[in-house]
Amino acid sequence: MNTGDIVVLNIEKLNSEGAGLARSNNFVVFIKNACPGDTLKCKITKAKKNYAEAEIVEIITPSQYRIEPKCKLQKVCGGCSLQHIEYSEQLKYKKIIVEDTIFSVLGNKMTVNNPITADAPYEYRCKIQYPVRSRGKLYNNVNANARLYAGYFKPGTHELINIKYCPIHPHICDEIIEFIKITGEELGITGYREEDNSGELRHIVLRYSKYNNDILVTLVVNSEVINTKFKKLADSLINNFKHIKGVVINFNARKTNVILGESSFTAAGCDFIEEKLSDLVFKISGDTFFQVNPDCANRMFNFIKNYIANNFNSPKLLDTYAGIATFGITLSSLCKEVVSVELNEHSVHNAIETIKDNNITNVKVVVSDTLEYIKQIQESFDITILDPPRKGCGEEVLKNILRVTGDTIIYVSCSPKSLAQDLKFLLNNGCTIELIQPFDMFPNTPHIENVAIIKLHK
Ligand SMILES: C[S@@+](CC[C@H](N)C(=O)[O-])C[C@H]1O[C@@H](n2cnc3c(N)ncnc32)[C@H](O)[C@@H]1O
Repeated sequence: MNTGDIVVLNIEKLNSEGAGLARSNNFVVFIKNACPGDTLKCKITKAKKNYAEAEIVEIITPSQYRIEPKCKLQKVCGGCSLQHIEYSEQLKYKKIIVEDTIFSVLGNKMTVNNPITADAPYEYRCKIQYPVRSRGKLYNNVNANARLYAGYFKPGTHELINIKYCPIHPHICDEIIEFIKITGEELGITGYREEDNSGELRHIVLRYSKYNNDILVTLVVNSEVINTKFKKLADSLINNFKHIKGVVINFNARKTNVILGESSFTAAGCDFIEEKLSDLVFKISGDTFFQVNPDCANRMFNFIKNYIANNFNSPKLLDTYAGIATFGITLSSLCKEVVSVELNEHSVHNAIETIKDNNITNVKVVVSDTLEYIKQIQESFDITILDPPRKGCGEEVLKNILRVTGDTIIYVSCSPKSLAQDLKFLLNNGCTIELIQPFDMFPNTPHIENVAIIKLHK
């Protein structure tokens, strides 16, 4: 198969990036914007030794599950690459993505439960992070005609798409972002320029509460001090949107792809919003981790809560990669004792406030790297929760987790690939997998969260 070849392909399923997978003479071809069940005329755009990539030239016969995406920018944005597939079919193929990923790493098949969903596949995303840029050239950081634009980068580029409507997050967030662009332009605020680290506004970060509709706005600025333009913008936001509870200015003057800088200043209102999980109210700041889909997160937390209630009597729990100790705190009423370990000091601060507000007395929160903490402890826990970032835990952490855990590991993962790699290590070290339960935390995208229950047999 060569670049430029025209082939007719039948789409079998989706790969982990959400591209359609087809076979031509047993050669695997990946096609973006395809839907399982489509018959497509395609042009090969990349031919490798083991696989090829192709683009759609013509949809010969559309799948019965192909639908019109809600978002006109779906194909260029790449954020929700499954929007053209009926939601029930997305779920069917996401389960297959998890099964295929685990099979490719472990070499044997594993049963995966049907995904548990949120109520709605739209307006679920409660954290938005848009980079901001200026159109036109800046002179001495000023451009009289500067237009601000904000949105997502085209996949694999730093080319910004100016987004005015995104069906994935609550509609009020679009209104706030448009307001920031227009008012920012009126105040003469310039957007960031990566090329020479100039310009003022780098990112707009919004957090929305499903619990009470409150919103926290964080404006990431390319500076180490606040100027009057941003103070005016902050006041204007608070005065124009009754649900905005606070506007925080985050300072990030470094030449980096990391979104948030180290320090912040609350320019208007307060620096947190509240969200409810499993009957408890949590304080969330702009820089702390919190699940982006609270409806689905609630189902995941209740699932784990029910598992523990049905299988343990007052266990001792270790909650690692704890964030604001959401697991530790929601599970504390079932546990004798909980230790939550988290690296980010602000998250730990939020956790301690929630523990106080709810009069919880059996949760200890530790600011530490997970590995450093477990390496030096001698005590043992009945259950360990692992909820690492996308890259997973790795062998050194897992070795120590096996040493300090008596009975069960509950592994929460947003990456099927790193989950599979860590499961392989655990299986090779005497563990068995009781179940793998996907949660569709990210509808219309190929991403999926999984909970794996792992038994130790000590
Ligand atoms: C996927 S989040 C999970 C947070 C929490 N369990 C929840 O559901 O809200 C991962 C968390 O791990 C923290 N983290 C990252 N690396 C860490 C490390 N080496 N040790 C401890 N915490 C870490 C991050 O700050 C983040 O809060």
